[in-house]
Amino acid sequence: MPYNISMRRAIVRSDSPPVRLRKRGDVGLVTIANPPVNALSAAVRRGLLNALALAEEDAKIRAAVLTSSGGKAFVAGADISEFGSPPVAPSLPEVVAAMDAFSKPLVAAIDGVAMGGGLEIALACHCRVASKNARFGFPEVNLGLIPGAGGTQRLPRLCGIGRALEIIAGGQSFGAARAMEIGIVDEVAANGAAAVKTAFARAKRLAAEKKPPRRVSGLRIKESAASAARIAEEYSERLKKQKPGLLAPLCCARAAGGAALPFAEGVRHERALFLQCMRSQQRKALVHIFFASRNAAKAFVPAKGGEIVSVAVVGGGTMGAGIVVCLADAGLPAILLEADADALAKGLNRARAVYEHRRQSGRISESEMRQRLRLITGAKDYGGIGGADLIIEAVPENMDLKKRVFAELDRRCKPGAILASNTSSLGIGEIAAATKRRGLVAGMHFFAPAQRMKLLEIVRGKETAPKTLSVIARLAKQIGKTPVLAGDSPGFIGNRLYAPYGREAEFLLEEGATPAQVDSAMRDFGMAMGPFRARDLSGIDNGRNIRLRDWANLPAHYPRPRVLEKLFQAGRLGQKNGAGYYRYPDGKTPVNDPKTLALIKQASAERGIHRQKPSARQIRERCLYALINEGAKVLSEGVARCAADIDAVYVLGYGFPARRGGPMFWADSVGAAFILERVKQFHKECGEWWKPAPLLQQLAKANGKFAEV
Ligand code: 3HC
Ligand code: NAI
Repeated sequence: MPYNISMRRAIVRSDSPPVRLRKRGDVGLVTIANPPVNALSAAVRRGLLNALALAEEDAKIRAAVLTSSGGKAFVAGADISEFGSPPVAPSLPEVVAAMDAFSKPLVAAIDGVAMGGGLEIALACHCRVASKNARFGFPEVNLGLIPGAGGTQRLPRLCGIGRALEIIAGGQSFGAARAMEIGIVDEVAANGAAAVKTAFARAKRLAAEKKPPRRVSGLRIKESAASAARIAEEYSERLKKQKPGLLAPLCCARAAGGAALPFAEGVRHERALFLQCMRSQQRKALVHIFFASRNAAKAFVPAKGGEIVSVAVVGGGTMGAGIVVCLADAGLPAILLEADADALAKGLNRARAVYEHRRQSGRISESEMRQRLRLITGAKDYGGIGGADLIIEAVPENMDLKKRVFAELDRRCKPGAILASNTSSLGIGEIAAATKRRGLVAGMHFFAPAQRMKLLEIVRGKETAPKTLSVIARLAKQIGKTPVLAGDSPGFIGNRLYAPYGREAEFLLEEGATPAQVDSAMRDFGMAMGPFRARDLSGIDNGRNIRLRDWANLPAHYPRPRVLEKLFQAGRLGQKNGAGYYRYPDGKTPVNDPKTLALIKQASAERGIHRQKPSARQIRERCLYALINEGAKVLSEGVARCAADIDAVYVLGYGFPARRGGPMFWADSVGAAFILERVKQFHKECGEWWKPAPLLQQLAKANGKFAEV
């Protein structure tokens, strides 16, 4: 909508606190100050319109500079907490239109992140100066949205439709140098202060030139309407394969494909698609996950003191090697301790291999690789790690071994050092009891591959001190992980819910499914990986060990699936030895295996089951409702603080589709009453495992939601 006089009249003529207009000679300085990230809340939007109107009317102002305070973010975009509430005027497109139409040169001075709506207001300025540390991007697609304030129209006009599609539908951020290279910014300055200074100089120069401002909306893209539409269409076809089931990426492509249309028409088209996404369930789910992953960190009181300067890791296998890489990536020195010299060399080589792979794929340079590897050292014995502030144990999943290691760590490490276990299921309280510093012992459950997965379950043992948890949570943030607090129950949050999910998947095999059918039903739902492919990756032997322990005291009337045990007895340990539920002829690609099917059929016959192929829907209901029923128990036992924490765990650590918001959010959309009916039915048909969780029953009766618990 063009900026007009009637809009100006509607503006309250007072200085709105989150946006200030000050005069510096004949240049107006408009500063956004809305901590922590200068999001474009209603008050900021009002303030911006107000400041622009005042600057427009002041004849002594010949040009203006738009900047923000805080340094962390120029503007992190629209205020996400407003999504889903009734719209409050002025809208962001109105503000952006007012900037575009501003009659005097308007220069953006960008420091920190300019994301989403933040980049859109920068693009609506007539010139852009960025600090070297600025970062740019359109992350809307990660929230189930498209840029909705002209971003899909202005960006292609500056950098071409192909690049714009990558940026808008990809959702990745990029630095100032790249922004300069592709024509999004006009100049890069050394830092935030220099960017403002340069922007002032530019504003003065432009004012002196007395030419009409260079508005991006007035530019044309190089491509014709037909070729822009074709490029967008081809891109959409790729997106359908790469990101199946997602609405927003396709809408991004459709909106950007309209950039060859007259600007106003393109913006109208964009707005319609934006509103369609805003109303979608996917947007609600993705915004839920955005806040769930941030709110999870609020379980930990901010730590005072207890700086972690050096960390040691005991055990350099799959997990330990990944953990030292995480630490080195964050610039923290990490000492690795292994069982013997040979195992230490192997552990250090595993870490080196991760960096080699990154270097070969161009993600880091040779010198970055060397710099990070220098931070990783090996220790010959416990004496070499005695000075570490935090020790993370990652030896095999065996309680006796872990107790021995913790007793030794307690004797050899300095007083006050925190001892953490990466156990995926063992009791933290029991491990802590092997030490005399029980308050300083906690679980740090990383996920494989540890250098990539964002989740860190922080497990509170019975005697873990709150400060221990807080110090670990602060470190988690430092190494780029999302900390979620979990109670000390077998499997904590994640693996506790995964057990019934995996159990039902296996019962389905005995009833008539194949591993590929179950995996493909769950992948179609959106899981990153099916349960059997996942189990082959984590090892049949490991799965069996956990099951033997969990089922040690299981009453006889609980039915037990048999396929896992048969695979183990046949020496099929999963991908690591080339055969598990699938066969891996090239070491990594799963192939259906008649031998597995023979074992499955044997298990069906032993249980007297007449095999019948289940539908994809039956598979999903059995696996997911088992998981949700357990989630309800975990919630009422207080193992998870809230349903949103479970959602964060599942999306960040288990490949649950973010577009469904996590299992408990998804369950709320299905409805507790409906799920309870199915659970009761399965209880009748499949036995004792399916006893409905009391919380599920309460919610079904009261028409309540897990989100409200
Ligand atoms: N709106 C509202 N709150 C926001 C926000 C936003 N756009 N971005 C961040 N926040 C809040 C967070 O919830 C958090 O609040 P808390 O302290 O109460 O938990 C606080 O700001 C700090 O955020 P982080 O913990 O994430 O801080 P980081 O330093 O790790 O990251 C960031 C900063 C890179 C800006 C990151 O927060 C981020 O990626 N934010 C989202 C950016 C985004 O998606 N923008 C697009 C919004 S949609 C849009 O603009 C639509 C438009 O096209 C019309
Ligand atoms: P792994 O078998 O790959 O590595 C264990 C390492 O510990 C080996 O290199 C071994 O030499 C070393 N080790 C054994 N005894 C030792 C001792 N006394 N002192 C020092 N080092 C010793 O095991 P992985 O997979 O890395 O698992 C480690 C822990 O992490 C386990 O508790 C496991 O449950 C947990 N975990 C594993 C995940 C996975 O996907 N592999 C995921 C999350 C947690």
